[in-house]
Amino acid sequence: MSREPRIRRLVEELSLEEKVRLTHGANDPEGRATGYVAGVDRLGIPPLRMADGPLGVRIPGESATAFPAPIALAASFDVELAREHGEALGRETRGKGQDVLLAPGANLVRVPHNGRNFEYFAEDPVLSASFAGAVVAGIQSRDVVATPKHYVANSQETARAAVDAEIDERPLRELYLPSFRSAVEAGAGSIMTAYNDVNGTRMSDHERLVRDVLKDEWEFGGYVVSDWFGTETVAGAANGGLDVEMPGITLAEMQAAMADDDTADEGGDVPDVIADGMPDAESCERFAAALADAVESGTVSEDRLDDMVTRVLRVMDRVNLLEEGDGRVDGAVDTPAHRDLATRVATRGTVLLENDGVLPLSDDADVAVIGPNVDEPVLGGGGSSETTPVVESDPQTGIAERAEGGVAVAHGLPRVEEVSMLEEFTGGEDDRAEPSREPDLEGAAATAREADVAVVFVRDTASEAIDREDLRLPGRQDELVETVAAENDRTVVVVNSSGPIECPWREEVAAVLENWYPGQAHGEAVAAVLYGDADPGGRLPVTFAPEDAYPTADERRYPGVDGTARYDEGVFVGYRHFDSAEREPTYPFGHGRSYADYEYVDADPDLEDGTVRVTVENTADRDGREVVQVYVRPPSVDGVDRPVRELAGFESGAIPAGERVSVAVDLDDLAFARYGEDGWTVDPGEYVLEIGRSSRDVRTIQRTELDSGFRERVRRSLATGEAASDERAHR
Ligand code: BGC
Repeated sequence: MSREPRIRRLVEELSLEEKVRLTHGANDPEGRATGYVAGVDRLGIPPLRMADGPLGVRIPGESATAFPAPIALAASFDVELAREHGEALGRETRGKGQDVLLAPGANLVRVPHNGRNFEYFAEDPVLSASFAGAVVAGIQSRDVVATPKHYVANSQETARAAVDAEIDERPLRELYLPSFRSAVEAGAGSIMTAYNDVNGTRMSDHERLVRDVLKDEWEFGGYVVSDWFGTETVAGAANGGLDVEMPGITLAEMQAAMADDDTADEGGDVPDVIADGMPDAESCERFAAALADAVESGTVSEDRLDDMVTRVLRVMDRVNLLEEGDGRVDGAVDTPAHRDLATRVATRGTVLLENDGVLPLSDDADVAVIGPNVDEPVLGGGGSSETTPVVESDPQTGIAERAEGGVAVAHGLPRVEEVSMLEEFTGGEDDRAEPSREPDLEGAAATAREADVAVVFVRDTASEAIDREDLRLPGRQDELVETVAAENDRTVVVVNSSGPIECPWREEVAAVLENWYPGQAHGEAVAAVLYGDADPGGRLPVTFAPEDAYPTADERRYPGVDGTARYDEGVFVGYRHFDSAEREPTYPFGHGRSYADYEYVDADPDLEDGTVRVTVENTADRDGREVVQVYVRPPSVDGVDRPVRELAGFESGAIPAGERVSVAVDLDDLAFARYGEDGWTVDPGEYVLEIGRSSRDVRTIQRTELDSGFRERVRRSLATGEAASDERAHR
């Protein structure tokens, strides 16, 4: 039953000061929430508590399940798993007594260097939107508000708070907006604006994208919250559609609240290395007294303020926060089921990039485990997503527990130090720092020489507020791999990275696994894949290529010149670029090998239904997991550059040895449409459906003409709400 009348009554009873109080952050008296909106006690409105994600629930100084990074989740190509993951995040958020999770990250991976790629899903809008929607639905199902972020075009951390993303409507509509739209459709209660400008306007002030597109077109009924210190104006933001300002307090107050007790007032200056990616900490307290003044002077209407408050109350109500008593579903942290899920996602997201047959390892092989950081799990990258687990498994221990043969360990190099924007920002101590080891490539070589198999773990580092300098592995890790490979021709490389890396040694080694940032279950999960207890279920959600081959290699596009990043590659991001430029990537989008082999027997499109039924046979004598991918090649239209192919749908499923399964793959409307001057269009003509194992490994093709009914249905479903926004623009 709608409780809008009750909310309307509450709004009527609020004083101006109380209304304003509900539109901005304050200090959490318990010192736990990263964002806190004080309630109004006299009317039974409780406070709203926000905690960071998306890798787990982050309460400073506390532990929670440290799940694999979202890019690892997306590599599973399994939307059901994403939903389960969202539910677990929601359950942990409630378990921590919080109401809002600042997750998922819904930005598209445009720049391979982006320091936050690990927090995002993919370079493809259909994949990213499917995951954003599923994670949101999962979080919200636990009476927790999801906050997809950062709306929109926050594609880089370099100068993230200053850069202007100059971007045409077509790439916005076709690539960057769909994940947010999908999150809204899945029921997200809140959306966080990005720090950057889009086409000259700060996102927190962006009337067209926030008010017109998000709220009017997509009918988003929740509240829009700023990123922390991301608000510049009062009336501009409020009238543009921003509803809540965060954190609403000064940097000094926030640092004092976030730091450990003994460093409580030591929050100092932000170091240069991250300053470029930090917002202006003076950008706060816009929605406090200044908002009340603006309402009194009429620059912000009282109706607008009421709408802001209504949105906050409506969302609180949706997660049963306004209930008398406690009608909310229970939460729980670090349950056995969550531990198991963390392991499952880590194995399912692991991508087998190369394998000459060395994998899976035989149980009794003597294994050399080599790498500078094999004694610690890669929990994630730096910044607001840092999560501390209760239990953890590192690669060395995970393999030692699984192996039946001997295990010898060598580090070879000094530890690769993680970068933590957060420690710097809060003035806390980095308790992970340990005395560095001396390089010992010779020792690593000797260990490799004596083993049946050498498994080398290499990693990058990434953090919010800082982009990666290049796509190479930090330090001398490439040299370490080459040294080991020269000693042992059964060398397996496990890469733990935030996104694409260059692998100059790939032809010298026997197998390569991309294992991302796997979280607390690192060792256990990677051992399960190495020994074949689980088939590597992952496929690449981002293209791997040499740095200079990406469209953003042009500095006008990234990091931008004179404060502007020009997105003039248009829709040719990720594999869309590599396909149209006819460049061979190192590993294409969608790529990932299995320990089993598959034959694509047939494919039967039913466009009325929006599905393709694909029959796949596992021809191997071991069970496997296949990800069936369907790409659409659109007809060519004069004067319009279309991508060669676009992902339309995918389905991950287990296929037992020797069996045939029939999988129904749902096709997304987005892959059939393009955005032009007249809005969404679905061109007539022949569409080719490419069905296969990756964007470059097509196993079967179906050609089809779309009938006009189908074309019109797709156009309409994408255009919903456009009319309302046009009307407003013309007023
Ligand atoms: C990040 C957000 C995060 C917020 C609160 C910002 O610096 O960009 O993703 O939710 O801080 O910690």
